[in-house]
Amino acid sequence: DFMEQIEGLSTIEEQIKDILECEEVVIVSGDADLDDEAIYNIGHAAAKVLLRNISNNDIIALTGGSTVHRMIEAIPSSPIKAKNVYVVPARGSLGNNVSFQANTLVAMLAEKIHSNYTLLNIPDNLSQKSLESVREEPEIQETLNKLIKSNILIYGIGNANKMSERRNLGQDIVKHLSDHHATAEALGYYFNQQGEVIYASRSIGITMDQMTELKYPIAVAGGHSKSDAILSVKKLLSRGCVIMDEGAANGVIALS
Ligand code: F6P
Repeated sequence: DFMEQIEGLSTIEEQIKDILECEEVVIVSGDADLDDEAIYNIGHAAAKVLLRNISNNDIIALTGGSTVHRMIEAIPSSPIKAKNVYVVPARGSLGNNVSFQANTLVAMLAEKIHSNYTLLNIPDNLSQKSLESVREEPEIQETLNKLIKSNILIYGIGNANKMSERRNLGQDIVKHLSDHHATAEALGYYFNQQGEVIYASRSIGITMDQMTELKYPIAVAGGHSKSDAILSVKKLLSRGCVIMDEGAANGVIALS
């Protein structure tokens, strides 16, 4: 029954906390690989965590992805109490479907909570040289300056293979990823099972170093197929809040 289910979830939460050595864990029911409801549950849980943590002058950074998108859908359209809040994309476009791009999600969230926002309008697949000059644009600088000061970050975690397919990465990069046994992707970085960064996407935005100094990162991931990826980014998850479904959590427990 319902109470048993809640107790079951909190037992799993304790186990996941021990395995991932993280501060705060929320496990919701379902498995995103099997049912749509699980992602809705993650979205609702993440929306709650976010709204509870926003305070005056906060800068909220977001990645793209369908899970972060669900969180924004779960946020009620009403002004928040906190004043002078900014929403910014954590990274420039990484080749996602436009409806799940960080820029799109930033505008959606800002509109819902009536906050300010700035975007990172950078075309995909720029050469390193063009990227360097785009970085100097005042508008981009403004966003990057906000990003450095961001105190909340909401980000998705993905499978390295699925993400390299979704982003249509070139054959040489796909080969590099498979030669180096890529398992996970987060924030444009690809990781192996030991949590080492084996490839960094060419883009502009928050870096790994900035990420580890962030006040409050919130990670969201659903589905048993992501459990290997979640374990691989364990180091990123040590602070802040991790939100996943039972499917992912049971997978993490089984693998460890
Ligand atoms: O591309 C943005 C991103 O957050 C990736 O960093 C992550 O791997 C992926 O999206 C997660 O996507 P989804 O929530 O759709 O599984």
